Amino acid sequence: MRAKYDFSGRSVLVIGGTTGIGRATALAFAEAGANLYVAGLGAAEGRSLIEEVGKRHPGIAIEFAEVDVRSEDAVRKFHETAYERFGRIDVAFNNAGVPGRTAPIHELDQADFDLITEVNLRGIFFGMKYQIPHMLANGGGAIVNTSSLFGVMGYATTAVYCASKWGVIGLTNSAALEVARSNIRINAIAPGSTMTPLLTNMFGGEQSARDTVLPSLPMGRIADPSEIARLVLFLASDEASFITGQAVIIDGGGFVAGADKTVA
Ligand SMILES: NC(=O)c1ccc[n+]([C@@H]2O[C@H](COP(=O)([O-])OP(=O)(O)OC[C@H]3O[C@@H](n4cnc5c(N)ncnc54)[C@H](O)[C@@H]3O)[C@@H](O)[C@H]2O)c1
Repeated sequence: MRAKYDFSGRSVLVIGGTTGIGRATALAFAEAGANLYVAGLGAAEGRSLIEEVGKRHPGIAIEFAEVDVRSEDAVRKFHETAYERFGRIDVAFNNAGVPGRTAPIHELDQADFDLITEVNLRGIFFGMKYQIPHMLANGGGAIVNTSSLFGVMGYATTAVYCASKWGVIGLTNSAALEVARSNIRINAIAPGSTMTPLLTNMFGGEQSARDTVLPSLPMGRIADPSEIARLVLFLASDEASFITGQAVIIDGGGFVAGADKTVA
């Protein structure tokens, strides 16, 4: 039976919500009754998300802003606007991420390093920087940050991506401790391979992604973004009231299966 959560009357920020896991999570929050303020890149995808939510869940308030999380100013303005619009934000999902260039570390340059860390790690720092004061002032909240299975292991040709995702868990652990007595819970998700534009970009297409990752997946399939969304809703919900500072792996058994087969 699929778990159902009730977020009616709650307001949720989804940053990195135009496609993939973020979009599926925005749709799941809308289905659970939450009002939504979504950020990400891609004005057309943002508009189509608003249309899709409007058709499926006409009672839901949803807005979209194209925000580049590499800009602190843009992230600050997005939060200020969201607080003005909704009054109170209960949940934030910091999910924006890029795969970056897939290559051995000695073939990467500073621009590769900067892009990956500025989006995947510093973007989440900016998110929490502007979410936590609001939640402290309003009596609490829940934050979920997107790490990765690559945030708990290494993988040849994705060293900087892995470093950024290990960093997300460090930020999550520590920030969770800072607000543990303030009714704010902060957790991370660590998804394994999930069929999204990021995965296909990382491995050079859908078929190539399947060929590369399927052999190391015990369940023999790649996750659907909606499966990751359900974990985000759980961690953001009162059902997870005693869970904080965790990075929850959701990978169809890949991590416990041990070493992968990718030695470059
Ligand atoms: N797909 C996977 O297998 C997988 C596995 C583990 C973790 N993840 C993580 O999940 C998250 C979502 O990725 P996805 O797989 O759904 O891919 P995706 O490419 O579909 O989604 C990425 C989202 O991040 C946004 N984004 C990218 N750069 C941005 C920027 N500079 N500013 C603001 N938003 C930006 C995009 O607009 C999009 O909404 C990422 O953090 C990714 O690292 C994905």
